[in-house]
Amino acid sequence: MARQKLLVANWKMHFVRAQASEYLKVFTERVRGVHKTELVLAPPFTLLETVGRALEGTAIRLAAQDLFYEREGAFTGEISPIMLKDLGCSYVIVGHSERRRLLGETDELINKKLKAARDAGLVPILCVGETLEERRAGKTQRVLEAQVRGALAGVHPHPQPLSPSRERGAGVRGPHLVIAYEPVWAIGTGINAEPEEAEASALFIRELLAQLWNAETATTVRILYGGSVKPANFEGFLRHPNIDGALVGGASLDPEAFAQLAQMAERV
Ligand code: 13P
Repeated sequence: MARQKLLVANWKMHFVRAQASEYLKVFTERVRGVHKTELVLAPPFTLLETVGRALEGTAIRLAAQDLFYEREGAFTGEISPIMLKDLGCSYVIVGHSERRRLLGETDELINKKLKAARDAGLVPILCVGETLEERRAGKTQRVLEAQVRGALAGVHPHPQPLSPSRERGAGVRGPHLVIAYEPVWAIGTGINAEPEEAEASALFIRELLAQLWNAETATTVRILYGGSVKPANFEGFLRHPNIDGALVGGASLDPEAFAQLAQMAERV
């Protein structure tokens, strides 16, 4: 089964409303001819509504960069999966290495967030990846395995069907998961992983999913590469069978560059 290519813009902590609107004018125009590749924008929380409105009537989907694992309650400053659904989000990034490193997110917390996302009908984009030290010590696969197993503990391939009254028509088919392999040393450094290394990690993750769940489900999960992706290096990644697209930081802040990536994915 062919997996649809997926390209996600992680804007991280960038842009205010006027900048987002300018971006969207250019970007939506440039990707008019892109139909085969799924495009997703992940702006900061403060821009979800603005971006969501601008994307109405297009096939471009909305993602959040994080969520909290409770549906509501006394959790000052947190954002619940229900709130993200309400703003029209389809996806949510979970376990980004910047949050693991700067905010101390653990596999246990990430597991809770991932479950909460799926329960609400959001598709988590789970980020995993090794640091430079771990890579140098030959621990890449061990780290990826621990992160994937930790995040997916107690998670079944298909979420419980949502009750029709709560979520009519919210697709419950498919594994409801995207995994982004993002080596920490390649993020924001301009030094991308070699496409062959990224393919090896993507294959390793897919084989692990086959063990944890089953082979059939593992072939349907989309696995992205992230880390200094730009138009100059993207084609190399797209050639590999287990890499289904990219999670893009820096290059996604330029609507022309991000649209160029979308067109490259479309041509594969
Ligand atoms: P860069 O593309 O800026 O390296 O960021 C990658 C990333 O962290 C996407 O989530």
